[in-house]
Amino acid sequence: ALPKRVRIHEVGPRDGLQNEKTVVPVEVKTEFIQRLAAAGLDTVEATSFVHPKWVPQLADAEELFPRLGGLGVRLPVLVPNLRGLERALALGARQVAVFASATEAFAEANLNRSVDAALEMFAPVVRRAKGEGVEVRGYLSMCFGDPWEGPVAPEHVVRVSRALVDMGCDELSLGDTIGVATPGQVTALLEALTAAGIPVGRLGVHFHDTYGQALANTLAALQQGVSTVDASAGGLGGCPYAKSATGNLATEDLVWMLRGLGIETGVDLRKLCSTSVWMAERLGRPSPSRTVHALTGP
Ligand code: HMG
Ligand code: MG
Repeated sequence: ALPKRVRIHEVGPRDGLQNEKTVVPVEVKTEFIQRLAAAGLDTVEATSFVHPKWVPQLADAEELFPRLGGLGVRLPVLVPNLRGLERALALGARQVAVFASATEAFAEANLNRSVDAALEMFAPVVRRAKGEGVEVRGYLSMCFGDPWEGPVAPEHVVRVSRALVDMGCDELSLGDTIGVATPGQVTALLEALTAAGIPVGRLGVHFHDTYGQALANTLAALQQGVSTVDASAGGLGGCPYAKSATGNLATEDLVWMLRGLGIETGVDLRKLCSTSVWMAERLGRPSPSRTVHALTGP
């Protein structure tokens, strides 16, 4: 049976904007997040407290985060290490995310260390965050395929997922970072994770739409009992390590499918579309979302 309600974890301002060539001014980011909240998204990943040289697009985190007070929504932020966590806590962040990799190649490329060394880096971060009563999400990248290593065996994903849960992560987000997964793989991975004792209620999915499979993969995950889905308004972003420039699953496309299935999200699709059109104008290129086109085009 499908879930009655899905919690959308909006990642446009973070995963979307981190992959844009243009650095978006802090005023525009602020308005973007305000508009996403006004459209009914109750979880909006705001930014990352990472090294500014690694992700210059999000180097303004200290300026941005304090502008978001009073929105009444959850505003998770990415923190790779204790330095990042301290920066986030100092500004009052109440939800943070660490980001692990299922593959060695991506751990090196993204975090400058091995899979296990990255997990060692996260352990004190999760401990300290939990000690402060802060919620922790654990991202897991390259769960299905990796640009350097090829297909990823579910055993690797299970091992790192187990480590993140044992560390204290409240929720995991399974990332198809380069968007190569197909629905059969999604079903198989979720079955492997549940067989390993990881409750499906703690799992979210994070699909990229490189091969147009993101919605099909989402439906496969919903059929396995997943009820947290990551998406990016307007399908913003991409992955610097994927050949194609297509971004995350577009939030509008997701909402359209869920609405048709009678699954509640609390999102006002019209408001969301006009936000994505507005953002696309700021970025100087149209939104790749089919739903945005269908609802706002000529
Ligand atoms: P490193 O170079 O190994 O770090 O990078 P280090 O610990 O050796 O420190 C080097 C310098 O960085 C030092 O400064 C530190 O103070 C500074 P120096 O002494 O040279 O002046 N530093 C920091 N500065 C600010 N904030 C910090 C911080 N930490 C260290 N938090 C590090 C290691 C993890 C920092 C680096 O690799 C990094 O920042 N990586 C971030 C990469 C990133 O953000 N990637 C995108 C997010 S993941 C993703 O998008 C996938 C996802 O969407 C899911 C999916 O689709 O799969 C989540
Ligand atoms: Mg991503």
